[in-house]
Amino acid sequence: MQICRDLPDLRAAHARFRAADERVGLVPTMGALHEGHMALVRAARAGSDRVIATIFVNPSQFGEASDLAAYPRTESADIAMLEAAGVDAVLIPDASDIYPPGDETIVETTRLAGMLHGAVRPGHFRGVTTVVARLFNICQPDAAWFGEKDYQQLAVIRRMTRDLHFPVAIHGVPTVRAPDGLALSSRNARLTPEDRAAAPVLKRALDAGAAIALPGVAIADIAQTIRETVAAEPRARLEGLDIVNPGSFLPATGPLTQPIGIMLSARFGQGDSAVLLIDQTEITP
Ligand code: PAF
Repeated sequence: MQICRDLPDLRAAHARFRAADERVGLVPTMGALHEGHMALVRAARAGSDRVIATIFVNPSQFGEASDLAAYPRTESADIAMLEAAGVDAVLIPDASDIYPPGDETIVETTRLAGMLHGAVRPGHFRGVTTVVARLFNICQPDAAWFGEKDYQQLAVIRRMTRDLHFPVAIHGVPTVRAPDGLALSSRNARLTPEDRAAAPVLKRALDAGAAIALPGVAIADIAQTIRETVAAEPRARLEGLDIVNPGSFLPATGPLTQPIGIMLSARFGQGDSAVLLIDQTEITP
């Protein structure tokens, strides 16, 4: 695996792949890799001739400096995992490579970025689309793979890719879970043992909602069941629960007649060390 620490190195690797007429797949990451990322790499391997991964903790998608500073950084373990998984090249850029001094260009999905998680974390999705657009231009992939766990992020990236005519196929990969149901996330490493034991409540709450989601049931009742399940876990503080139409992301209301997406987030722990976890599911009645 070639380790590219600057853009010319990555471009040279990309040029070699293209010269051999190979299809290039991209897996953008912020490092602190786990089995969820490896599922993205496996899917990218199966769907392309060459795989480029990126490791870049993108400052523009973090609202609070403390969240950015606390983000886990495990570069040598990440490189070993990517190499073992058969990645061909990894780009590990400096922030100034991605955001050249004096840069002033942003990319934003104006509606989708401001709603739901975007309303709670202003600027977050603008940071994601800005960096992903730049990574697409740098890595020029034919296709890119993202986790379905970040449900709204995936929708935002699909919209941006379509709107800006990037010739990149976007693929979502199902959430990978620990045996107790907790969705794998780099943030899980920051949980105390007690909060780690409590965190599977997110999946239990989604399962409880899904269990009553028969055709015609009131969506408000599904929401209530999810809220009550989270409330029964004293270590979890519900932050957001959104039940949406998966196409428009507008709130789903009334009786259940169409597929719905459920986005759930909760905080564990206190103060600066509190960890925000998210989970999601889609239900087709
Ligand atoms: O999902 C992530 O890890 C990040 O949001 C992404 C897509 C790599 C952009 O920084």
